[in-house]
Amino acid sequence: MKILLSLTLAAALTPCVLRAANTEFKPGEIWTDTSGAPINAHGGGLLYHDQTYYWYGEIKTGKTWSPKSNSGWGGTRVDVVGISCYSSKDLLNWKHEGNVLPAVQDDPQHELHKSKVVERPKVIYNKATKKFVMWMHIDSEDYQLAHAGVAVSDQPTGPFQYLGSCRPDGAMSRDMTVFQDDDGKAYLFHSSEDNKTMHIALLSDDYLKPSGKFARVFEGRSMEAPAVFKHQGRYYFMASDCTGWAPNAARSAVADSIWGPWRELGNPCRGPDAALTFHGQSSYILPVAGQPGTFICYLDRWKQFDLQDSRYLWLPLQLTAAGFEVPWKDSWKLAK
Ligand code: GAL
Repeated sequence: MKILLSLTLAAALTPCVLRAANTEFKPGEIWTDTSGAPINAHGGGLLYHDQTYYWYGEIKTGKTWSPKSNSGWGGTRVDVVGISCYSSKDLLNWKHEGNVLPAVQDDPQHELHKSKVVERPKVIYNKATKKFVMWMHIDSEDYQLAHAGVAVSDQPTGPFQYLGSCRPDGAMSRDMTVFQDDDGKAYLFHSSEDNKTMHIALLSDDYLKPSGKFARVFEGRSMEAPAVFKHQGRYYFMASDCTGWAPNAARSAVADSIWGPWRELGNPCRGPDAALTFHGQSSYILPVAGQPGTFICYLDRWKQFDLQDSRYLWLPLQLTAAGFEVPWKDSWKLAK
């Protein structure tokens, strides 16, 4: 009897090591990694390399607070912790690979100091240099620096070495993304001119700096959170309006050349609260490897007053004759 009791007690106290695998995307619900912890990779981007997907994003941990300088526009923040990396084979189950670009603790002047802003990391691989190159939004606490920063690594799982930041082509840079074309050229899309006009900057062949060639697009249309993809030779674009962490109606556009002209197509979202992008904001559009025409639209659902509980909305993106749509789904999976 005594033995039986201690066996039962031992079983009850042993932590359960078997975790059920994720089998569906559940937009807006807490999404756990393979260790059972919530995935912490916000405003992020994805890379497919050697049959593996990598997800990079902002680590949002700790208390959300509002610096005085940002109180006029609701710019709450958490201190910078770094950029996380996760890896996956199936896009549903993600292994935490660690903090691949940690915040700097002891030098308040450093651009990665915890008091700064480090947002929207995007990583691409340069075949010629064999480097993984991360671009990100680097800013001062009050968002007045408006720089794009760059870091490199020899492995997708880091550590990344921070190289510095700039105003690309002398122009302000806040929300941004990087798009790598099939010919190997890479472009930085960045909200510029006080967020009023989007800039597209061709990067140098090593992807480490702007090449000097750039275009101004969506002039005066005030867009943030750009995401770009290509299908059958056409370029597609998604972005948000500029309302800080608060959701608004998404924008979309199409072009035959990356330099434009870009034709706006309106809000691609369909379903409940589509007018508010399902309470989300675009972060990245992923072409699913080996499935031409299959794309996943990754949105952030920010929680302005508790940023660490911000969620992800991964939704199927459907191409249409005119452009594309993003329908709401409570849960879904990729067709095999
Ligand atoms: C949003 C932007 C986010 C973050 C936030 C700060 O508009 O897309 O990346 O910068 O503002 O309030």
